[in-house]
Amino acid sequence: MAIKKIAVLGAGLMGHGITQVAATVGFEVNMRDIEESFLSSGMEKIKWSIGKFVEKGRISEEDSKKALGRIKTTTSLKEATKDVDFVIEAIPENLKLKQQVFKEIDGYAPSHAILATNTSALPITEIAAATNRPEKVVGMHFFSPPQMMRLCEVTRGNKTSDETLNTTVELGKKFGKETIVCNKDIVGFVANRIMVPAGNIICWMVYKGEYTVEEVDAASIHKAAMPMGTFGLMDFVGIDVGGSVSKFMEERWPGYEMCPLIKEKIEKGELGVKTGKGFYTYPEKKWIPLDLPLEKAEKFDPLTGAYVAINTAADLLREDVATKENIDKAIKLGFNIPIGMLELADSIGIDVVVSKLKEIEKKYGPFYKPSPLLEEMVKKGELGTKTKKGFYEY
Ligand SMILES: NC(=O)c1ccc[n+]([C@@H]2O[C@H](COP(=O)([O-])OP(=O)(O)OC[C@H]3O[C@@H](n4cnc5c(N)ncnc54)[C@H](O)[C@@H]3O)[C@@H](O)[C@H]2O)c1
Repeated sequence: MAIKKIAVLGAGLMGHGITQVAATVGFEVNMRDIEESFLSSGMEKIKWSIGKFVEKGRISEEDSKKALGRIKTTTSLKEATKDVDFVIEAIPENLKLKQQVFKEIDGYAPSHAILATNTSALPITEIAAATNRPEKVVGMHFFSPPQMMRLCEVTRGNKTSDETLNTTVELGKKFGKETIVCNKDIVGFVANRIMVPAGNIICWMVYKGEYTVEEVDAASIHKAAMPMGTFGLMDFVGIDVGGSVSKFMEERWPGYEMCPLIKEKIEKGELGVKTGKGFYTYPEKKWIPLDLPLEKAEKFDPLTGAYVAINTAADLLREDVATKENIDKAIKLGFNIPIGMLELADSIGIDVVVSKLKEIEKKYGPFYKPSPLLEEMVKKGELGTKTKKGFYEY
């Protein structure tokens, strides 16, 4: 299906970014929000951001003007969607609200139009059920900021057709993204499903008093070259960002328990840099680089989160949710990490990962039980680089 015109619903953080990306590569875009002031603020941000691309020589002045000329704004959902080929919804993360909006657009958008949601964690199938075209509803998950981040996860709902999936993957590519397919409608899709539990287990360890926030961050900085540390990074990104995905995981992923430390922070409104307090304090609501001594780094193994991430990645592969290359791509491009979790597993040694997971399982419960795929690899002697075969061949 040839796509010419797109509607983006929501002019917030994600909506304005997606609009900019689509207009820059040549699509006509209708951007919709519920108030004029939100639309004008979104347009201001697009102009600022596109100006930066011009400054850096990544787009010409003339092309930036053409891109801006392709964007129309409206507060009317009908106007926004009545003549488009593709809709990308980026409104707040609330299932009822999304269902209500999808039901409405289903009545306005042409029957051939595909309806995509940028949800981070809500089920595509349940959003699709609000329409009479569930085969044309799909997940299209961008990462923040969409103008910069190269990953786009395309997720199949239970009724999404192959044609819808393929058209969405092609559109993602036209947007200049590396598009990966998530074959099952599972909470967190691929990237967040791997990384959110990895952060969660470290929080549990701090919550239970095994380590302090400073010990974890000192080890992350000095031993794992994470310049912001683990908790520092959460403060920087916003504790509510991963926290909201974690909450959905608790609701929909049997055995997953969100760490109370994160819940408490969210309840108190201590969300990190943006509120002036998170795990550390920021009197000017600006990031302050962490200065933690080397001695503090001794206790914590900075690969702890990675063992849990590898376990989830192995399960995703075992359950055919995504290919191994896409599982690794999701982590590298979704979080700007230089190595994928399956590649990392091969370099650590699958036997080492399994024994570390067993230690975690003993203290923190069956959610951390090593994936049957990892156990099987150990039995077969496929331990990674040291045996020349693991998830990949060497
Ligand atoms: N923020 C992130 O890092 C991130 C990353 C990936 C995906 N997402 C997902 O993208 C979606 C949007 O997130 P965001 O961070 O851009 O939120 P946001 O709050 O910045 O923006 C949402 C916008 O939607 C508008 N809106 C509310 N109801 C609307 C309606 N009925 N029609 C059109 N617009 C409406 C709001 O006025 C607001 O401007 C959420 O589903 C979120 O989970 C967010």
